[in-house]
Amino acid sequence: MAVFDMKSAPLMILELLLVSLGLTIAPFSAEENNDHWFVYSGFANASLTLDNTASITPSGLLELTNGTVMSMGHAFYPTPLRLRDSPNSTVQSFSASFVFGIISIYDDLSSHGLAMLIAPSRTLSALPVQYLGLLSGSNDGNKSNHIFAVELDTYQNSEFKDINNNHIGIDINSMTSVQSNPAGFFHDQDGTFENLTLSSKEAMRVWVEYDRENTQIDVTMAPLAIVKPKRPTVSTIQNLSDVLTDVAYVGFSSSTGKIHTQHYVLGWSFAMNGPAPSIDLSMLPKLPRHHHKSRRSWVLETVLPIATAALLLSLGVVAFLLVRRHVRYAEIREDWELEFGPHRFSYKDLFHATGGFENKNLLGIGGFGRVYKGELPRSRLKIAVKRVSHDSKQGMKEFIAEIVSIGRLQNRNLVQLLGYCRRKGELLLVYEYMPNGSLDKYLHNAKEGNSALSWAQRFRIIKGIASGLLYLHEEWEKVVVHRDIKGSNVLLDSEMNGRLGDFGLARLYDHGVDPQTTHVVGTIGYLAPKLARGGNATPLTDVFSFGMFVLEVTCGQRPVRHENVQDSQLMLVDWVLDKVREGSFGATMDARLEGKYDIGEAYLALKIGLLCSHPFASERPTMRQVIQYLDGEIEAPDLSFEVLASMQSEGIDPYLISYPLSTECFSTTSNVVSGGR
Ligand SMILES: Nc1ncnc2c1ncn2[C@@H]1O[C@H](COP(=O)(O)OP(=O)(O)OP(=O)(O)O)[C@@H](O)[C@H]1O
Ligand SMILES: *[C@@H]1O[C@H](CO)[C@@H](O)[C@H](O)[C@H]1NC(C)=O
Ligand SMILES: *[C@@H]1O[C@H](CO)[C@@H](O)[C@H](O)[C@H]1NC(C)=O
Ligand SMILES: *[C@@H]1O[C@H](CO)[C@@H](O)[C@H](O)[C@H]1NC(C)=O
Ligand SMILES: *[C@@H]1O[C@H](CO)[C@@H](O)[C@H](O)[C@H]1NC(C)=O
Ligand SMILES: *[C@@H]1O[C@H](CO)[C@@H](O)[C@H](O)[C@H]1NC(C)=O
Ligand SMILES: *[C@@H]1O[C@H](CO)[C@@H](O)[C@H](O)[C@H]1NC(C)=O
Repeated sequence: MAVFDMKSAPLMILELLLVSLGLTIAPFSAEENNDHWFVYSGFANASLTLDNTASITPSGLLELTNGTVMSMGHAFYPTPLRLRDSPNSTVQSFSASFVFGIISIYDDLSSHGLAMLIAPSRTLSALPVQYLGLLSGSNDGNKSNHIFAVELDTYQNSEFKDINNNHIGIDINSMTSVQSNPAGFFHDQDGTFENLTLSSKEAMRVWVEYDRENTQIDVTMAPLAIVKPKRPTVSTIQNLSDVLTDVAYVGFSSSTGKIHTQHYVLGWSFAMNGPAPSIDLSMLPKLPRHHHKSRRSWVLETVLPIATAALLLSLGVVAFLLVRRHVRYAEIREDWELEFGPHRFSYKDLFHATGGFENKNLLGIGGFGRVYKGELPRSRLKIAVKRVSHDSKQGMKEFIAEIVSIGRLQNRNLVQLLGYCRRKGELLLVYEYMPNGSLDKYLHNAKEGNSALSWAQRFRIIKGIASGLLYLHEEWEKVVVHRDIKGSNVLLDSEMNGRLGDFGLARLYDHGVDPQTTHVVGTIGYLAPKLARGGNATPLTDVFSFGMFVLEVTCGQRPVRHENVQDSQLMLVDWVLDKVREGSFGATMDARLEGKYDIGEAYLALKIGLLCSHPFASERPTMRQVIQYLDGEIEAPDLSFEVLASMQSEGIDPYLISYPLSTECFSTTSNVVSGGR
């Protein structure tokens, strides 16, 4: 069966004519015929169905995301494909190839990724960030999605069992890939695997092939200069006849999280029952170039000294030492920073403390950047250095003033900020080192051999985080809204006390590219409903996230429950509400506690978790009240039947369930409460 399209017949005739004359067809535009195939070598004048941030640039690049944080974009081939050649037969073979490029403000860190997909409709009920614009918390894993996708994922989401932050995965109806492999390819000659970095800012090619006979899916990737490798990067057997609808759309989806990233497709081809036509690489538009300081410093550090040394060895060595000293440790200092003098670290010290930012000292990679372990040379103090890429001066002064002054006043439930250092395009934040890492690991990654936390430890962590948050909200001269409270932002010190990290960082990103618009930053699942819809970040939106956090710690589950799709209750809070209403609150407790917990405290924690995550901000307690409940100074209000009913009927989760979600939700102005009180 042919793809039905008004212009296909004349074009086909033209095509046949040109092909018979040995000419190639205008490579910029899509051509198709009754065997349904098309090829775009560049997208100038292409009529794709685009939404959200997706657009076609004047040079003919398909730009899926434009660098806006927490956004997504889709592009679909306008005419649907008929995947089965007769109504009751199986899905036919198909193959596709495309050339993509990912440009992030970081050198090798980006969020989140892109995917080529086949779906029954061009409007997906999808979310950005970790969902890549493909799915959402409420439909992840549901067979009625009928979605097949190949994801190029540059962020490791443990909830989807991602293998690393640079992989290719085959997704069937779920963000948890059925098969995945680190990005790269196998050499034809000797079968060795070569890694490729998806976010390398270089264009790379991907082939996706489905074979009807043995239902094999092969995904192959290679740099443009390499012909298609024989061995696919990822391969799996999945009968797509059980997945895809008869009529379906093929396209791309992409999303960003906290890191300003642009996702591009340069060319694309597709064919049913045959190899995808080849894309004319010489016609492809160019990816935008980003001038990176690292390039210049590399020239200065390596090429320049070597050249000099070749001319005059002795002078060269001297020059090298001087230049290296100058460039390697170059920093930015401005007049306004004088007052923060004592909190200013020299880059040289940090460089030596972390062994030159060596990979073996890498503690982890978060949404804001890499975190390295180090030891200060003189004081032998153990530190954690977070390298945050930041190009804009906008907001830097306020931000540094704020974090330094929070750092001055010490609170034992905040991760102490010791100081900072600035370089061109980069901010380095120096924190005290937390030997036990993040709480997240203990709650969700049982396999890494982390012993489960006892109830007493959990309750102490909840209390600690509550008082850290109270400090930010009320006990300091300004109101600081944390905005990203979650298990992974809680670190554990040597005595397993919970300490809140990353405060204020979300705020820095408000001042990203465009000073006029600010963005809500946070993590889906912990965002208060109003905030997710573009409301203001206030202490009460933090209280909501805190409520989610308390439930996370108590129940040992993430706020969005991915494990159990059969269970209709997707949001942890809904599920807890139901259990509490049934009176079986014991069932909500983390199984790893093995029933060993103080019933009074556990019930209190659940109550506080539920009260804090009330859909109406006005019904949530303040952090001061929460502390009073936790300390038993005031009895927490009982969860009366009315309270429970109001939470449920208002829909605890209007945000995650309601869709389609537009990116407007993420780009409306949100002012931080930061004025004095
Ligand atoms: N002060 C610290 N001491 C010890 N380890 C730390 C410290 N700060 C961060 N880490 C480690 O570095 C990793 C990355 O931290 P980071 O806060 O950047 O990311 P995250 O919280 O996982 O993600 P996100 O940026 O999305 O909040 C964490 O998993 C944590 O284990
Ligand atoms: C694209 O459209 C513009 C204006 O509509 C035209 O000038 C140009 O020649 C077209 N390019 C191709 C490749 O068809
Ligand atoms: C990105 O796209 C969105 C939606 O079309 C738009 O509002 C925004 O201004 C764009 N941003 C940039 C930097 O182009
Ligand atoms: C095809 O499927 C439809 C609905 O499932 C069924 O009614 C019909 O009999 C089938 N036709 C053939 C030829 O098997
Ligand atoms: C490829 O990267 C992985 C981790 O990302 C690493 O373990 C492996 O050694 C690398 N392989 C090569 C050949 O560099
Ligand atoms: C794939 O599934 C379809 C329908 O479920 C079935 O008819 C077909 O035989 C299957 N193909 C293979 C190779 O198992
Ligand atoms: C799957 O999605 C369908 C349609 O949206 C819905 O009716 C069904 O309840 C969902 N199933 C599960 C297990 O969530």
